Amino acid sequence: MQDISSAIESLRTGLGSRLCIMGHHYESDAVVEHCDFTGDSLELARRIPSVDAEFIVFCGVSFMGESAALLAKQGQAVILPEPAADCQMARMSTAADARRVLKQIRDLGLDVLPLAYVNTDVPLKAVVGEFGGSVCTSANARTMMDWAFNAAERVLFIPDMHLGRNTARQLGIPEDEWHILELGPDGLVNPQSQPLGRKLLLWPGYCPVHAAYTPAHIEAARAAWPGCRITVHPEASPEVTALCDAAGSTSFLIKDAEARAGAGETLVVGTEVNLVRRLAKRSQGACRIVPLVDGEAAACPDMAMVTPEKLLASLQSIESGSWRQVVLSEADREPARLSLTRMLKICG
Ligand code: 13P
Ligand code: SF4
Repeated sequence: MQDISSAIESLRTGLGSRLCIMGHHYESDAVVEHCDFTGDSLELARRIPSVDAEFIVFCGVSFMGESAALLAKQGQAVILPEPAADCQMARMSTAADARRVLKQIRDLGLDVLPLAYVNTDVPLKAVVGEFGGSVCTSANARTMMDWAFNAAERVLFIPDMHLGRNTARQLGIPEDEWHILELGPDGLVNPQSQPLGRKLLLWPGYCPVHAAYTPAHIEAARAAWPGCRITVHPEASPEVTALCDAAGSTSFLIKDAEARAGAGETLVVGTEVNLVRRLAKRSQGACRIVPLVDGEAAACPDMAMVTPEKLLASLQSIESGSWRQVVLSEADREPARLSLTRMLKICG
């Protein structure tokens, strides 16, 4: 491992300012230690326009690399160490399905605007841009949902039903004002059997890592560490977030953990386990930090596909001139970028 690490550092030094390595907080320490920037989805997207490097090697899943490519300057190459690392939730909604449903709802004479979580692919972001909607991340879902409700009577939130419901609760939208869509085998929604007139329509997607947390996990943590504080990512179900002391984006969870150092309490954190372990290590005992769920089940299998070996291979491909960059469809590029830049404009 040391050889791989030194080989990465030696190539990184050789490439100097021509290279920028970015990584999501859910990557392993062995990858993160080589990154120029780490962040959550929003922080990384915000960084891209100010990066001047010729090569951006993006350690994360494919929708993140695609967002980077959408925001990159002309001539910059975005390279994913493992292009097959995708987000399981992003795969739960396709552009064709979203377009069909949006068209169907509008054809019923209902005013609807799409708001898509950034965990979606470029063709879906393009549909969202085309229909006048925007992207959001877990860090700004509340602001963006508020924006969407000011622009339309009804919002279609794609694809994370849990983030959608947690955000609706923050905005005081009662349960009888939202509805989780039931998609038929033809990809359409049956207006006879479901209340499509409701204010918030939710795509039935979820993150298998965060949606696996249950109220029983919270009860077990409270029993194991009496008096503990429990925080969780809002991709967990509202039944779980309601039992926690706080729920928030990856950046919120990090700031919250840093603020608790020295408070002498146990902090139980419900999010991807690589990040929780890193927070525990960083706190150096100033605060006991434990994962809500530990082990394999709490790790994102796609993030784990990015390894130091693959990062090294990406740098070697730059060195040898054989790199493969993220290529976007020209037809999707502009409308997809619009859906992202709307968010960046609104949220600064
Ligand atoms: P963040 O928006 O908090 O970075 O989360 C991305 C993600 O994939 C969470 O599972
Ligand atoms: Fe997707 Fe969940 Fe993995 Fe995040 S943790 S990348 S939402 S599967």
